[in-house]
Amino acid sequence: MRYVEGIATDKAISLIGLGTWQFGSREWGYGAGYATGEAEHIVARAAEVGITVFDTAEIYGFGRSERILGAALARHDLRERAFVATKIFPVLPVQPIVRSRAEASIRRLDVDRLDLYQVHQPNPVVRDRTTMAGMRDLQRQGSVVEVGVSNYSLARWQAAEAALGSRVLSNQVQFSLAHPGPLVDLVPYALSAERLVIAFSPLGQGLLSGKYDATHQPSGGVRAANPLFLPENLVRAQALLDVLRDVAKTHAATPAQIALAWLIHHPGVIAIPGASSVAQVEANAAAADIALSGSEMTALTVEAQRFHPIGGAKAAGQLLRARTGRRG
Ligand SMILES: NC(=O)c1ccc[n+]([C@@H]2O[C@H](COP(=O)([O-])OP(=O)(O)OC[C@H]3O[C@@H](n4cnc5c(N)ncnc54)[C@H](OP(=O)(O)O)[C@@H]3O)[C@@H](O)[C@H]2O)c1
Repeated sequence: MRYVEGIATDKAISLIGLGTWQFGSREWGYGAGYATGEAEHIVARAAEVGITVFDTAEIYGFGRSERILGAALARHDLRERAFVATKIFPVLPVQPIVRSRAEASIRRLDVDRLDLYQVHQPNPVVRDRTTMAGMRDLQRQGSVVEVGVSNYSLARWQAAEAALGSRVLSNQVQFSLAHPGPLVDLVPYALSAERLVIAFSPLGQGLLSGKYDATHQPSGGVRAANPLFLPENLVRAQALLDVLRDVAKTHAATPAQIALAWLIHHPGVIAIPGASSVAQVEANAAAADIALSGSEMTALTVEAQRFHPIGGAKAAGQLLRARTGRRG
């Protein structure tokens, strides 16, 4: 495993973390045995292979993800080493509510403090000045170490930081070879300002593993609602997947590992893939040790920028038709 360098933090931050939306979230379709068994093994193995970053949110499984993660960290004596990141879902994020929601997350996670407390998404009505007043208060009382945001534009990230009056360490955004948008502004900013981009859905929810195609689609409601898995987009993704497979072959690695390696070759970027098995978390952690050449990086970036999945109204229409089983 490799860790973030050049940014001073209390705990080491691994370049590959573990996303835990899957824990206790029925909409991933992994079943009860996953939540009550596999999830704990995934956390324990993640720590063994050097992962320190564990990402969750109060909204995942309505608190179940935080509880499962917290219980696993406690049982395996990992609380000291783990960099625990959770998120507030910012409905009315005024100071007393921010405080009570943080305290509830701390209880569910069974930790003393949150290493990173992130605003899950920008509130379109409530300004960051309000939310950040609550965050500042939590930092002062020692319940929160670092503040982060998620799904923020660069301008709003900077505004949040001005409102907090100290660094907003990270912005967690959708970033992968299937969604390379953050390369434009967030990644250069993170590098220049010594901040972090935390890449969520770094494997395109499994698309970049190359195991899905128009005849073999993943189960579960989350991915049934993800336009990336529309048959037309799975066909459009083939050129990108072919380049991933070629690079993977050179490194005796998998396409998923190369997709993660590409992300963390950008300074200031860490990735937090979810995992449906212990074997996946092992493979994902091992991706931190893959060294891609300049020409491999370029080939992957070029192909990522050529990939134009259908979106917007057209994708919404196809998703609706797929869901209702209608044709046309
Ligand atoms: N801030 C936000 O708004 C936001 C939004 C989404 C996610 N997140 C965070 O980001 C984390 C990761 O994103 P995500 O879960 O949406 O997508 P992801 O990490 O891109 O995809 C995870 C899925 O990919 C498959 N996978 C994982 N490792 C693999 C490997 N080595 N080989 C092959 N397949 C592999 C697994 O599904 P199968 O095995 O079933 O194919 C796994 O459930 C979440 O857990 C959550 O913590 C945050």
